[in-house]
Amino acid sequence: MAAAPQPLKKVPIHLQSAQNRLYIRHGQIVNHDGIFTADIYVEDGVIKFVGPSSEITVPGGVRTIDASGKMVIPGGIDPHTHMQLPFGGTVAVDDFYRGTKAAIAGGTTTIIDFVLPNKGESLLEAYDKWRSWADPKVCCDYGLHVGITWWSKSVQDEMRILCEERGVNSFKMFMAYKGLYQLADTEMMEAFEKCRELGAIGMVHAENGDIIAKNVKKLLDAGITGPEGHQLSRQEEVEAEATNRACVLAHQVDCPLYVVHVMSKSAGIELAKHRQRNKGVGIYGETLAAALGTDGTHYMDKCWHHAAAHVLSPPLRPDPTTPEFMMKLLANSIGRCMSEVKGSDQVYFITSPPIRDAPETPRQLMKSLAYDDLQTTGSDNCTFNRDQKELGLNDFTKIPNGVNGVEDRMSVAWEKGVHAGLIDPCRFVAITSTNAAKIFNLYPRKGRIEAGSDADIVIWDPRATRKISAETHHHACDYNIFEGMVCHGVPEMVIVKGRVCVEDGQLRVAEGQGSFIETPVYPPFVYDALNGIKQVEEISNGVKKFDMNETLKIEIPNNEP
Ligand code: URP
Ligand code: ZN
Ligand code: ZN
Ligand code: ZN
Repeated sequence: MAAAPQPLKKVPIHLQSAQNRLYIRHGQIVNHDGIFTADIYVEDGVIKFVGPSSEITVPGGVRTIDASGKMVIPGGIDPHTHMQLPFGGTVAVDDFYRGTKAAIAGGTTTIIDFVLPNKGESLLEAYDKWRSWADPKVCCDYGLHVGITWWSKSVQDEMRILCEERGVNSFKMFMAYKGLYQLADTEMMEAFEKCRELGAIGMVHAENGDIIAKNVKKLLDAGITGPEGHQLSRQEEVEAEATNRACVLAHQVDCPLYVVHVMSKSAGIELAKHRQRNKGVGIYGETLAAALGTDGTHYMDKCWHHAAAHVLSPPLRPDPTTPEFMMKLLANSIGRCMSEVKGSDQVYFITSPPIRDAPETPRQLMKSLAYDDLQTTGSDNCTFNRDQKELGLNDFTKIPNGVNGVEDRMSVAWEKGVHAGLIDPCRFVAITSTNAAKIFNLYPRKGRIEAGSDADIVIWDPRATRKISAETHHHACDYNIFEGMVCHGVPEMVIVKGRVCVEDGQLRVAEGQGSFIETPVYPPFVYDALNGIKQVEEISNGVKKFDMNETLKIEIPNNEP
């Protein structure tokens, strides 16, 4: 007769179907702050135990998974997607089902998408529309950012309702798309002020829309209508200028800022300089899988469709050393990057004095290395098929903007980061999962392997390889911008809230198995640090007296190398 199931020594067990319970043994657990070998016990979609085998007795009938020789990492969080986005007269083909299915296939178990209201549209109505599209379709949990695409008293009132009653803590402002989404500087500043008042995060699409509009006219007048015109109309300095301006505007009103899709060396350096000045507090930057895995030389491809497939904004950069540079910014190595770009004509410095001219005593250099330069990787997944891209056959401004990336983001980041020797597995977890969870207030429920966290778990095989191709990907789109790229680092098993969704190369998901997750305001990772710095500044300016009895809440920013 089989022995009766033994209760766990340290974890209470409830009798239930073995389907809900998983025991993952002997894996190398990787969190952003450490690697250790341990077992994991999962029940009802939540991690109940992480520790040595000697401390757990698992009842019979529980599914046991042997993770020896593999890494066990928190599921990826993609903080930037546009599933089924209506854009440029058409709709992105990866809807919330296909998009989240592709995400899971690649090891991403949470996405944060963008509600983008039309000009004049109620933010709440747009939010409800996005929820009605996503809720029945998502295969993994998702959150929502909301775009501030126009500015009025009603927009401000609705921002408050979104924060207080709808689980939103982040708002994206556009400095580009003139005539469509672009806000004026004064409007942006007011929007930042509102974010600060609500405990939210201001986000920006940083490109100077006025310059772009002028350049577009010049190029079209000169007969340049192909995809190469897209890049020519919005060069690096156009992105760098807006990045600098966004940092200044947000800083003026003490609003925490998250710059989405940082695509160029110049913009990355602008952001890094502001982060150094602000002691790594209150300014965050995201780059994209696209920026790490490919480059803007594709805009010159003689095949129109090939070039058009790579059109997104800000564009990929023609300087082929850009991807490695962006990875180094994620790797927290501005000192190294700055010495590499000295003398480069391709990089534009907007703020003065540029760091390269600043006196670099060893202490200052150490200080500049203390804060990481970019914190997260998104995909900006916004996919359009060949026939949709053809809307811009005679005019590059009409090519729907967007590329794939939600499926391949993790593998591209591993290949270009860990496999290339630029980051370690802990930093990989930070830039693909934990940092997004901290900034958008999902941590430690998401972004960590720990008792109490959601069981969004990836068993990652760092030695296995796979070749990316549109033939085998899970997107609805008919191209893949990483076509032919061989990546080390394969998500061998993907577990979404305790459900095994990827195993033995098979993907099994159910439409609607995911849920909307609220992102509460005042993320401690962001606001505690901001308030702490503010107090220190006030004390050193003599505005405030230092009070021994008052706790200074300063969380050390994420500064592990
Ligand atoms: O090209 C892009 N990025 N398309 C989506 C809209 C945006 O600006 O993020
Ligand atoms: Zn954008
Ligand atoms: Zn082609
Ligand atoms: Zn986007």
